[in-house]
Amino acid sequence: MAESMKGLKRSHRCTEVSNQNIGTCVTVMGWVQRRRNLGALIFIDLRDRSGLLQVVFDENSVGSEGFAKAELLRNEFVVAVTGKIQKREAAVNENLKTGEIELIAEQIRILSESDTPPFPIEENSQTKDELRLKYRYLDLRRPDIQKNMMLRSKVVYLMREFMANEGFLEIETPILCKSTPEGARDYLVPSRVHPGSFYALPQSPQLFKQLLMCSGYDRYFQIAKCFRDEDLRADRQPEFTQADMELSFVDVDDVIEVNERLLQYVFEKGIGVRLQLPFQRMPWQEAMDRFGSDKPDIRFGMELKDVSQIVKRCGFGVFTGALEAGGSVRGINAEGQGAMPRKKIDRLVEFAKGYGAKGLAYLSIQEDGSYKSSFAKFMTEEELSALAEAMNGKPGDLLLFAADKNKIVWNVLGALRLELAKELGLLDPEDYRFLWITDFPLLEWSEEEGRYMAMHHPFTMPMEEDWDKIDSSPGEVRAKAYDIVLNGTELGGGSVRIHQNDIQEKMFEVLGFTKESAYEQFGFLLDAFRYGVPPHAGLAYGVDRMVMHMVHADSIRDVIAFPKVKDASCLMTEAPGTVDEKQLEELRLKINE
Ligand code: AMO
Ligand code: AMP
Repeated sequence: MAESMKGLKRSHRCTEVSNQNIGTCVTVMGWVQRRRNLGALIFIDLRDRSGLLQVVFDENSVGSEGFAKAELLRNEFVVAVTGKIQKREAAVNENLKTGEIELIAEQIRILSESDTPPFPIEENSQTKDELRLKYRYLDLRRPDIQKNMMLRSKVVYLMREFMANEGFLEIETPILCKSTPEGARDYLVPSRVHPGSFYALPQSPQLFKQLLMCSGYDRYFQIAKCFRDEDLRADRQPEFTQADMELSFVDVDDVIEVNERLLQYVFEKGIGVRLQLPFQRMPWQEAMDRFGSDKPDIRFGMELKDVSQIVKRCGFGVFTGALEAGGSVRGINAEGQGAMPRKKIDRLVEFAKGYGAKGLAYLSIQEDGSYKSSFAKFMTEEELSALAEAMNGKPGDLLLFAADKNKIVWNVLGALRLELAKELGLLDPEDYRFLWITDFPLLEWSEEEGRYMAMHHPFTMPMEEDWDKIDSSPGEVRAKAYDIVLNGTELGGGSVRIHQNDIQEKMFEVLGFTKESAYEQFGFLLDAFRYGVPPHAGLAYGVDRMVMHMVHADSIRDVIAFPKVKDASCLMTEAPGTVDEKQLEELRLKINE
């Protein structure tokens, strides 16, 4: 039977009591984690969000009625216990913050009972994800998830504190919007008042924050919910949280400077990690050439090498064919892996194919200096040696090569490099390597659309020194855009924005917008820019991703209270759901079966 709290007040959280409280009376409230019945004594571990406290029920202290209640306790019952703190009589538990003390119960109330939970509430749960997410409110009781949520709260608090001290204003922007230009699919909300019209949920506050710059707010900040209908991955959710900012009268260096200090502040105060400033910066082209990725993990080497020149006249058709088609041949050196068994290499080949490779050529250098290779028969001994030398190959090394279009070669070797680093244990999670990627291409050719697309978004400022190439070779124009990368993850990104009409119009033209279509989509922004727009720039972090890294979570779901699964549904609430016929009628919507 559930009792009330009347007349009782919690005095401490479970682990707020310590040796200092020995001999004093406290009242704690929480969930029964575990009960052990030793006949004359009953022990429970009481749990709240702070941790565990051992409670002892002895009939002499708690009375016969209290003892009878203690006998009823089961896991996850909610209780209030009043009693005295004493030094533990039995062995001290060094794993517990309260391991030296225990609470001798004098009074107990059962505030609510619990059915047997569908899985044990414990750290590092082995329970299947589906079950955990269906009962997310129970999963959220687990100490490791609670730690994640507490750190998340702290991170957001620290960001707000830092930004406020730097003169940023937190301003909320709408959730019911017009489509924003981040390039993912929109979530749409039908309008009842305007049948046939739809709001789009914001993919980011991008346009509003630029308008706030027009309005003179000069430093804006927001913890903003964003919505993108895209394929989910381990670090992507359909709704996620950005720490979003925009600044007026600044250039790239100003944005980078304040953000480096922000990250230093949050990492030091949040998890005690002291980051050295300034962070390394790397132009996009260099990142691609050396690491095959625009978000390279620089905790280890295994860099890509372009060997196109070395193999351009060799007899191996796979290599020369790729070069003739305008591609390249590049390799990585998995040092010390020359003895990798054939089966394992075959697995790497399959892995590479998963990233679009047609194959993966290998050359392993035996300890005696001889070669084992999938293409030895197509090359002379001299050619093989020249290739090995170009890759700094030593006896005992394994060289892996991809030949294809640059984009595929980068993608394949970039992924392979990471996969090998994981397998070989080269990734130290406590090593936080921040890196700015700069000088992104402004435009990216889309085969699907048959036109150039903005790599960041259409309001990103081109680099002045490249602007004269916008007609002759638009693909070579670089942008004033930057991403902040941590250990292989893009934590955030931003850019300097275009504030000049003529450049913006040209951008729209290159992107294939007509004047009318650009105006239809972004007219309010273009209009606003006619009334005095300051030069401005900004950046947004993925808060979920940042916290994920700070707690070393494998999945973004472990740092979001109520996440969605791969098909964007919520297993707990069963959203999305169908709606009443009446609601559809009001919206003048018909479902096309
Ligand atoms: P961008 O699209 O790069 O930039 O997004 C900024 C950051 O948001 C995070 N992020 C996500 N996190 C979880 N799930 C997702 N589906 C997801 N998509 C993005 C990433 C990313 O780096 N308006 C611009 C910023 C600007 O130019 O100021 C923008 O939204 O960590
Ligand atoms: P094949 O001549 O197709 O049997 O390929 C010979 C070797 O080259 C095999 O080890 C293939 O995996 C590899 N290979 C095939 N295509 C490529 C490619 N595009 N890049 C690198 N290696 C490849």
